[in-house]
Parts: sequence; structure tokens; C-alpha cells
Amino acid sequence: MRIINVKDYHDMSEKASSLLLDVIENNEHPVLGLATGSTPEGLYEQLIAKNKEKVVSFQNTTTFNLDEYVGLDANDSNSYRYFMNEKLFNHIDIPLENTHVPNGVAENSEVECKEYEQAIQNADRVDVQVLGLGLNGHIGFNEPGTSFSSRTHVVELDESTRKANARFFESLEEVPTQAITMGIDTIMESKEIVLLVSGENKAEALKQLVHGEITEDFPASILQKHKNVTIIADKAASTKL
Ligand code: GLP
Repeated sequence: MRIINVKDYHDMSEKASSLLLDVIENNEHPVLGLATGSTPEGLYEQLIAKNKEKVVSFQNTTTFNLDEYVGLDANDSNSYRYFMNEKLFNHIDIPLENTHVPNGVAENSEVECKEYEQAIQNADRVDVQVLGLGLNGHIGFNEPGTSFSSRTHVVELDESTRKANARFFESLEEVPTQAITMGIDTIMESKEIVLLVSGENKAEALKQLVHGEITEDFPASILQKHKNVTIIADKAASTKL
């Protein structure tokens, strides 16, 4: 694992943006794996700026997002599809049909998981997967206890994850109890992984990811086994390394 220490959130976002731009420049048809949450928002702002300055075009880029809440549709401001459209896709020159987020309101979530997994396989590979880090070590929405061999699947969200994400909702009761997420094995198949970590509250989780035992009880620990992982962590998140 390569760890890049940066000063703060802004520098983390800039560094992540330059890594992604490298991948886009070096591939005729780049495939990006994208994440939601507060952590990658700054990265998306950087990508929008670079696209406006015509430093990069996303016309040939395909994207796959990690996850989506079950029960929320694209018009729901808390859905990850809405988040991605608002924070990135609506502001860059990517054809919307090239962007993929699991459908949280599919008639049959199990079928949706299979189709989503198939779409990733059809794209042949993910060139670079962006990841954030859950406080309990979740990646995507793969909660502790998820099998390392999992593919895209439906998960029951941990109470701690629902509480952590309740800040975006009116109340904890409104936070969905289930989500669709790429599996751990799906994530591990991407050619390159860029994990972003910012803030003091993530310091313990980052320490466990880097130095802890590789265990399904802490899903992110599997990244120790991936051949091409870059962690970009700011000072506050790095205090326990
Ligand atoms: C969410 C998302 C993850 C994200 C994580 C951290 O639940 N499903 O993909 O990485 O939690 O979120 P944040 O970046 O807001 O701390």
C-alpha cells in the first residue's frame, strides 16, 4: 500500500484528482469506480473545474458507483444517484448513460444486484476505484462480517452506519435499513484503488486498515492484499499511523 500524506482536505482532493486525471489520460475508454459520502466531494469539485478548464473530457468515460440505498429513487435528495448527478455528472461532459448507480427502487433488488454486477463485468474492468472509509471499516456499504468473496449484493445497514449517515436525513428513522453495494471481491478486482481519508474521527479506522489484522470483521483490512492501493490521508486522519 502506498500512503500519501497531505496537509488537509483540500490537498487530499487535489491529489486524488490528479491521480484520476492520469488514469483518464492514459485510457481511451476509462472506467472509473466512484464513491459517495462527504469525503470525495472535494475531488468531484476538482474534476468539474478541470473539465470546465478543458484539461480533461469525460466523453469516453464510464462510471460505476459503489452503492445505493434501497427504497430511494433518483429524485430523492438522499439517494446516491441524486448525489452523483448534483455533485458531479450534471456539471461535466459525461454522457449520463455512461454513468451507473445501482437502482434502489428496482422491483427485485436481487435481480438488480446480478444485473449491476454483470454490467461491471461487461465493462471488462474498473481502471480506478475511489473509496471512502466507514468508521467501522466499511467500504462501499460492506459492513463488518461481509464475506471477502462477496459480489454486488443487498446489505442490512449497521445501526452505527445509519447513525453516521443520519446527518443527511431529517431523522434517524428516515435512513434506509438496506442498501445495494458492490461486493468486496468486486471492489478488489479493480486495477487500482484510491482510498481517501480525512479528519480526526477516521484516525482509528485508518490505523486498523493499515496495521490491523486482515479480517472480515473490518472489511477495509482486505485492501492490504490489493496490489495497487494508494491511500491519500490528511494530517488529522494520520495521527495514529
Ligand atoms: C457511506 C458510504 C461509503 C462512504 C462512507 C464514509 O456510508 N456508503 O461509500 O465511504 O460511508 O462516508 P463519509 O465520506 O461521509 O465519511
